[in-house]
Amino acid sequence: MIAFKDKSSGTVAGSLTIDGELIEFRDGETIYQIAERCRREVPTLCYDERLEAFGACRLCVVELEGIHNPVASCTTMADDGMVVKTKTEALEKHRKTLLEMVASENSNLDVDPLSGYASQELGQLLSRYNANNGRFAGNKSGDSNRDDKNPFILRDYDNCISCYRCVRVCAEQEGDHAINVMNRGFNTQITAEFGNDLRDSQCTFCGQCVQTCPTGALADKKALRASDLPGDISKTRSICPYCGVGCAVDILTKDDRVVGIHPAMDGPANEGALCIKGQYAFDFVHHPDRLTKPLIRQADGSFREVEWDDALQAAAAGFSKVREKYGRHAVTGIASGRAPHEAAYTMQKFIRASFGTNYIDNCSRS
Ligand code: SF4
Ligand code: SF4
Ligand code: FES
Repeated sequence: MIAFKDKSSGTVAGSLTIDGELIEFRDGETIYQIAERCRREVPTLCYDERLEAFGACRLCVVELEGIHNPVASCTTMADDGMVVKTKTEALEKHRKTLLEMVASENSNLDVDPLSGYASQELGQLLSRYNANNGRFAGNKSGDSNRDDKNPFILRDYDNCISCYRCVRVCAEQEGDHAINVMNRGFNTQITAEFGNDLRDSQCTFCGQCVQTCPTGALADKKALRASDLPGDISKTRSICPYCGVGCAVDILTKDDRVVGIHPAMDGPANEGALCIKGQYAFDFVHHPDRLTKPLIRQADGSFREVEWDDALQAAAAGFSKVREKYGRHAVTGIASGRAPHEAAYTMQKFIRASFGTNYIDNCSRS
């Protein structure tokens, strides 16, 4: 029996048997969630743990004693006494056939990992099941929208499998409803309002849809520019440098250059979400105009490059001049919302004790 070690965080609702093992579950858990918790490898495509389960792809099917047909485990709630099988010959055959149907009209299965966080999911499942995309070749659905002129998101619906993760993440996570599904069957199409380019929609270019797309149908245009750079892609866990929220990101580098950003799905502050700045505004790192040395403005308005000691002297002289001429409240301190406690404390001490003013704030509130 797999029982919960921590009985304090939720009522145990019952137990079920998965692949012969008795497992406790809590109220509201689905069969898929329990199977995942117990390290069963149940494949999924339309599932994103941050979103309401949708039950579109049927890859997560499992056998349930007493039920004739396999059920989608991501949308089936656990019930006391259930007997579940997650891996049988029939299930694996069923999943392989579904995968071949899903991929049958996709032109590109060899997706560049720079496309997005989840972009490899379909390809990985096809190799795991040794499935191919030729078996059900025929009619194709969806019109590609590669001409969308927005600078961030490639919209290549030739590779869309209608999992609707993009539409759901836009609505449920971003609260934006910038994209939706229109038509049915082979005419099914992901679209922005009135079929417009994304720039003419409610899209905030948060990139959530790109990062959840399991096929690369939506892809990161900026990151893909580095496809031809030599070398492997490295990921470095860091914190977004922009505001005080502190979103966790994985910085993608190639050939010693930052080429893209993946949101960290396990980031405690963001849980996979980012805004447009954190997602796409990384060009400053290698920009030729980026300041790497302090500059002092001269009498004629031009800037002169100096060493740090000289710059600090000049700043101190400037502050003193302002205080003498206009008084202590002419100085305001704005601290970085990302500064650690010690630095924030030192900053407020500096402003209050050195200048005698309480005009101190931080950028997280602006
Ligand atoms: S564009 Fe991607 S995420 Fe959206 S429905 Fe198609 S395959 Fe799914
Ligand atoms: S980038 Fe964000 S706001 Fe725009 S369509 Fe995608 S999820 Fe919606
Ligand atoms: S993952 Fe359950 S139906 Fe798609």
